[in-house]
Amino acid sequence: MTLQSSTPNATNTDAEVWASIAKEEARQEEQLELIASENHASKEVMAAMGTALTNKYAEGYPGRRYYGGCEYVDEVEDLARNRARELFGSERANVQPHSGTQANMAAFMSVLEPGDKVLAMSLDHGGHLSHGHTKNFSGVFYDFHSYGVDPTSERLDMDKVRQQALSLRPKLVIAGASAYSRPIDFSAFAAIAKEVDALFMVDMAHIAGLVAGGAHASPVPHADLVTLTTHKTLRGPRGGMILCPKERIVKVNSALFPGGQGGPLMHVIAAKAIAFREAQQESFKRYAAEVVSNASALADGLMEAGIRIVSGGTDNHVMLVDVGSVGLSGAAAEDALHRVNITCNKNLIPFDKRPPMEASGVRLGTAAITTRGLDGGDMGLLAGWISEVLRAPEDETTLTRVRGAVAELTGRRPIYA
Ligand SMILES: Cc1ncc(COP(=O)(O)O)c(C=O)c1O
Repeated sequence: MTLQSSTPNATNTDAEVWASIAKEEARQEEQLELIASENHASKEVMAAMGTALTNKYAEGYPGRRYYGGCEYVDEVEDLARNRARELFGSERANVQPHSGTQANMAAFMSVLEPGDKVLAMSLDHGGHLSHGHTKNFSGVFYDFHSYGVDPTSERLDMDKVRQQALSLRPKLVIAGASAYSRPIDFSAFAAIAKEVDALFMVDMAHIAGLVAGGAHASPVPHADLVTLTTHKTLRGPRGGMILCPKERIVKVNSALFPGGQGGPLMHVIAAKAIAFREAQQESFKRYAAEVVSNASALADGLMEAGIRIVSGGTDNHVMLVDVGSVGLSGAAAEDALHRVNITCNKNLIPFDKRPPMEASGVRLGTAAITTRGLDGGDMGLLAGWISEVLRAPEDETTLTRVRGAVAELTGRRPIYA
């Protein structure tokens, strides 16, 4: 095991927990991680989360805390906020959200009253559950309506979004998704929001690293509020963040604390600061570009093998594979790929006829495999293996051969060597 966290030492006495951590670390090394919302954070990012900062209560914000002894965590939070602002060119940043969902909750609370109308992307077409799922706080407290993709192109149709906005007259329009593989036209969304007198928010949770690295247009110049997660393409610790113009920060800050959270996770905020510095480097720009070129190569390879990709490809880190095109459900495909150590998740495709636990698609992403150094040539191999497994999911000879090939590749490209 190469990670320090699982190396036995005098302070690690809880054998049961450390054994499970060691197994998870080995699993990550041995499996090709194609879950589009995951990544492998650097050792330095992970190390910051294992520090004494976890002991510190710091309710409030730098210079205005409800606890004493905050002088050093203030330094850390200032570093994180300033780096976030520089990285994304935003006037203000709140780095305290514990997760993307909590960032969204605070963003909504900063501009909406319960019952207000919101227009966001349909969950069935790639949106996120914090954008109005009936069992999520968003759908419980606000009046969410949704737009979807065009049935033929499987892309957003901005004329339709505009028509819906004109008839609904929402207070907030949201762009951003969990499973949408095409560029989002933030300026077109902003124009629609302006036309109907709505505010405009972008949830860039998935593409934040691509935006940071210049591989996707930035929503920051167009949006009243931008939320994100720090652990997906941005490759930081698990957490969330809100970016906004200076005139909105007072409301955002108080919606987050005391509105939706108590004490911030200062050890995670330190890790966020480190990740933001990593994302400011030239090497991160190359990484972001490679995530996109790998995704495009993987989608091309799968399509050449006769497997349908929703909307005919991808321009970002993610693709939706219509495994119905090879006679499988998403659940069966996820399971078959898991048996050869390729990890992904079943996902609804637009206009899916199957229920979510079965689904007709799998969602694949290249953020994590690019971090461990896989390149365009590897994408050709990977597409071939995925195709073989999906076409013969019960054939033990195929599964054994592909599992061996995956082991050879993961052995050559360790994550934490
Ligand atoms: C678009 C979008 N927003 C918000 C979130 C929520 O993030 P978290 O799981 O940190 O609450 C996700 C997570 O997948 C997401 O894809």
